[in-house]
Amino acid sequence: MKHLIAPSILAADFANLQRDIEMINNSDADWFHIDVMDGVFVPNISFGMPVISAIKKHAKKTLDVHLMIVNPNQFIKTFKQVGADVLTVHYEACPHLHRTIQAIKNEDMLAGVSLNPHTPIAVLEDVIRDIDVVLLMSVNPGFGGQSFIENTYKKVIQLRDLIDKSGSKTLIEIDGGVNSVTGKKLIAAGADVLVAGSYVFKSDNPTKTIKELKNL
Ligand code: DX5
Ligand code: ZN
Repeated sequence: MKHLIAPSILAADFANLQRDIEMINNSDADWFHIDVMDGVFVPNISFGMPVISAIKKHAKKTLDVHLMIVNPNQFIKTFKQVGADVLTVHYEACPHLHRTIQAIKNEDMLAGVSLNPHTPIAVLEDVIRDIDVVLLMSVNPGFGGQSFIENTYKKVIQLRDLIDKSGSKTLIEIDGGVNSVTGKKLIAAGADVLVAGSYVFKSDNPTKTIKELKNL
């Protein structure tokens, strides 16, 4: 499978959101990556349901919603209602991860689980067959524009091995500090989906940058 590109809306111009959504619609991007932060799980607050609903009105591609919030269970149905197609929760925020994954799938969304940079791949051994997407954080979550943590390559290789051994079709998604250099190495290591915020939106020609990432 050709890898997927998911531009992160966090780096878009919120005063020109519709323009940036149309740019993604008309680009080689595959998913919209949407970061929800609660100021508790991570030291930042981004946006919530009304903004996702507004994005959904114009977006013509998959909405990949990354929840950096405590107790995500209470909002699973609501995120479905506002238009999420992929719903990713953090391993570190879910004491009953198996139940949470099933609840996401029961709402007909793809279930994603994210790991912080310090969390080892091995914690997913007993749930990997239940997960549609594993989102590896390659920066500490909370902010765009941070530098890529090099240890991520090793984790991608370990995760690819775990997925292959389990016979599951789980996608490996990487989030944080992705650019053409880190992106190329990530794909070689076995990544399936690249999230990119600053690298896309701070570039002179975001459409061209998305194409460049798609053709890595
Ligand atoms: C960080 C978010 C990322 C962020 C990535 O907590 O999960 O999705 O937007 O931004 P860049 O690509 O700028 O590192
Ligand atoms: Zn994210």
